[in-house]
Amino acid sequence: MARKQRTPRWLEAARRRGPEAPVGPGADWLARALGRAGVLPRAEAEQAIRDGRVEVDGRVEHEPFAPVGEGTRVRVDGVEHALTRQARGLMFHKPAGPVVHGSDPEGVGTVFERLRAVLPPELQGFEWYAVGRLDRDTTGLLLFTNDERLVRHATAPETHLPKRYVARVEGQPTEAELARLREGLTLEDGPTRPAEAVLRAPDVVELTLTEGRHHQVKRMLEAVGHPVLTLHREAVGRVVLDVAEGAFRELTEAEVSGGLGFTATDVDLTD
Ligand code: URA
Repeated sequence: MARKQRTPRWLEAARRRGPEAPVGPGADWLARALGRAGVLPRAEAEQAIRDGRVEVDGRVEHEPFAPVGEGTRVRVDGVEHALTRQARGLMFHKPAGPVVHGSDPEGVGTVFERLRAVLPPELQGFEWYAVGRLDRDTTGLLLFTNDERLVRHATAPETHLPKRYVARVEGQPTEAELARLREGLTLEDGPTRPAEAVLRAPDVVELTLTEGRHHQVKRMLEAVGHPVLTLHREAVGRVVLDVAEGAFRELTEAEVSGGLGFTATDVDLTD
């Protein structure tokens, strides 16, 4: 489906400022550029800008959507920072409990809080976006990145990045039921793509999906008569979870590019 076109907020700000504003490859808006480069997470960057703590090319800048370009000189509290745009990734071993949401009306805690609690100071300045969702009670591999383009790449329906889950279920699935999971079955939002499904134990199914619809694993197993009791994600693309519950590690460049198939050449500043 074609993405809805709208004028990015940073571009509107750039237009308001006149023809000297930098646009084009490498251009970004100030608060997001600070979050991407690991200087300050976005909300803190916006506050620092409003508080007059941020200078752009020698002038105090009060507009979080002020456009910046590759050569822009930025200082925060008098300290100069390079606005690097390298895409980075983290793996986090999500425990059961926290939600993958920014808002938390029930007060159960979010994965963003859990992640920040274990990050070292040098990674605290980044804005970390979750790559897709896991249910509150699902454990396992949750990826984070400083680059929304990686989120879009990994979660786009057309990318078909494989995601490997292990589910303990009610009852014992038969070979015929596994075959239905493999071939694809029809859920209320349409047919599922072919999947890999194998038994690891009589009541433990390993299911690898190349799509990521809401509650998809639970709905597929429910549809073949085996509701999920516990659900864990082991791998996304060729990135395999290898840290303890509640812990994180940085992904290597090879995992970001080869493991997730992401290259940051397709600059897309549409928000
Ligand atoms: N499918 C689900 O049902 N839940 C998850 O958390 C992930 C995939």
